[in-house]
Amino acid sequence: MVIDYNDMLFSFSEAVDIIDREVTGSTTNHGKRVAYMTYKMGWAMHMDGKNLLDILACAVMHDSALSEYISEESDRGNKLLDSDGKLSMDMMDLGVHCRMGEKNIRLLPLETNVDGAVLYHHENADGSGPLGKKAAETPLIAQLIHIADNIDTMYGLGSIDLVKFAKTVGWIGKNRDVMYSAASCDAFLEVMTFDTMSMMSDDRIDDSLHALVPAVRRDYSNDELHNIARLFAEIVDYKSSFTRNHCIGIAEKAEVLGKYYGYDDDVASKLYLTGALHDIGKMIIDSDILEKPDKLTHEEFDSMKNHAWYTYEMMRKVGGFEEITPWAALHHEKLDGSGYPFGKTAKDLDRNSRIMCCLDIYQALTEARPYKKPYCHEDAMIIMMGLAVDGLLDRTIVNDIDSVFAD
Ligand SMILES: [Fe+2]
Ligand SMILES: [Fe+2]
Ligand SMILES: [Fe+2]
Ligand SMILES: [Fe+2]
Repeated sequence: MVIDYNDMLFSFSEAVDIIDREVTGSTTNHGKRVAYMTYKMGWAMHMDGKNLLDILACAVMHDSALSEYISEESDRGNKLLDSDGKLSMDMMDLGVHCRMGEKNIRLLPLETNVDGAVLYHHENADGSGPLGKKAAETPLIAQLIHIADNIDTMYGLGSIDLVKFAKTVGWIGKNRDVMYSAASCDAFLEVMTFDTMSMMSDDRIDDSLHALVPAVRRDYSNDELHNIARLFAEIVDYKSSFTRNHCIGIAEKAEVLGKYYGYDDDVASKLYLTGALHDIGKMIIDSDILEKPDKLTHEEFDSMKNHAWYTYEMMRKVGGFEEITPWAALHHEKLDGSGYPFGKTAKDLDRNSRIMCCLDIYQALTEARPYKKPYCHEDAMIIMMGLAVDGLLDRTIVNDIDSVFAD
């Protein structure tokens, strides 16, 4: 499958940013700005072009494991909340998301050595970071991500003025060899002039990144697609403890059903990727709504419904996703027009969109929720047959799910 790889990273960086924002208070477009600064510094240091693209991916995804870490702690009864009930960085063992993130990044199709880039992105030059490594013990790319991440989180570089600029310069001067390595300070101060920082404002960052970073449009193998899919499915599935295997479960079933329909490996892999990404818009929905154990109010349910629209918005910006975007974004549309977000009807819904809709319901029915036990296959099928008889679901696909996934 041919994908504009950087488009994909930048578009989905929003999904990672949301968690970063809840934890660190970073602002919109944080991942993109960290990527922009890191790339600029690496460029000025004459790093190899291929390596720079991998570094960019590490910078965008530096906190990809935050949702996984928070979720696993929450499962252990450790909510990581401060006295105001907000997620608190002070309660966290930051080294854990660094280790998990280093593992996650391996799922991206990297071509060069970026060992330690994510693992050491919180290490301070004097060894006072979470893993106790001094600058000399960490790779330069981790030092660059660290300074970019930290300065953006502290100063919110989505808007800049001369006072803020002077403060960042002063702060970096004070923290040379303390928080930041001398090399990363020099690179930052050389590259991040006031004019360059102005290029990172929220209204300019997309254009600035596109002007800076070469487009990478490549044909990814089905194995590479599966790995990319697993990375993003994990990020979404960890957002809510109720849906831990939801996206990955749908991805696997979609691929199986695709093969049952005689699709070749390429199309079946696209269905896997679609299943993994279908709820990526949920990242933008408030955790309080996703995690609410009781029935949602009318307003909350309306807000929840927006996730399908956000999935559409994130995926439609990615070159190469034209075919799979509707399959993913229409997973709550019903044949009779009663679904959301577009109110499409049967004539607008092709087989793969209908597959996603049916599997989404099947997966949800067979999963546990705070308000219900998982239904067995037979009970789930009774409910789905009822929806097919009422004209909401594709009857043939429902029957095929029954044949393929019966225990
Ligand atoms: Fe981090
Ligand atoms: Fe960050
Ligand atoms: Fe959904
Ligand atoms: Fe879903």
